[in-house]
Amino acid sequence: MKTPPHKRLDSRHNTRLRWVHSSRLHNSHSLFFFQSLQSLTVTASLFPSSRFLASALLRPIDFSKARVIVELGMGTGAITREILRRLHPGSVLYAVDINPAFLAHVQRRIHDIRFVPILGGAEHLGLFLNQRGIDRADAIVSSLGLSSMGPDLRSHIVRQAADHLSPDGVLTQYQYLQFNTPGPHRFREKDFLHEYFREVDAERVIWNLPPANVFTCRP
Ligand SMILES: C[S@@+](CC[C@H](N)C(=O)[O-])C[C@H]1O[C@@H](n2cnc3c(N)ncnc32)[C@H](O)[C@@H]1O
Repeated sequence: MKTPPHKRLDSRHNTRLRWVHSSRLHNSHSLFFFQSLQSLTVTASLFPSSRFLASALLRPIDFSKARVIVELGMGTGAITREILRRLHPGSVLYAVDINPAFLAHVQRRIHDIRFVPILGGAEHLGLFLNQRGIDRADAIVSSLGLSSMGPDLRSHIVRQAADHLSPDGVLTQYQYLQFNTPGPHRFREKDFLHEYFREVDAERVIWNLPPANVFTCRP
């Protein structure tokens, strides 16, 4: 018997919905993109970081010595995976993200006893570490979109990070290149980071969408 036209449309629609749903679940890029559409100011980008950006963020870290590493803004795990590839067998990575969809996605994909995902805001970093009996991290890797945050929140987060970094530790942070916001109101991330860290170096990474500056900060 032939299927009536409205049922054929329904089933085509359902198939498409199923496809969107499964690609959301199974593909990091599409999950990231859909989450960004829901809240671009929080996700701060339409695409996960490239491996070139991940390398630039991780190069300043001495993985032979770093025992506690914190990642702020894990997303779909583009940088998390690169950290774990380099991480010493006896070290731990605490990775924080405020979005439960990202946390669930990464937990389904990464099975590594050195990896501790944490759901919550980076502004509670001190509390998260204290709950785990940790005072300071040897390295903090941040992908948070500081430019799109309110001034109080970003100050609070970077203050917490600076206070919980070991004296010879390093924090890396990136900012997308801003081609369209010149002038006095532009947020100058390097100057902002200098308020909390003695040393701030910048490196440009063009092989990322969008290109970015990576800042390496030392207490
Ligand atoms: C630009 S994305 C980076 C994602 C991933 N690390 C990457 O490089 O592809 C920023 C991430 O920060 C997270 N985020 C935003 N505000 C946050 C906050 N206050 N605390 C923790 N995570 C936050 C977002 O959910 C998003 O996953």
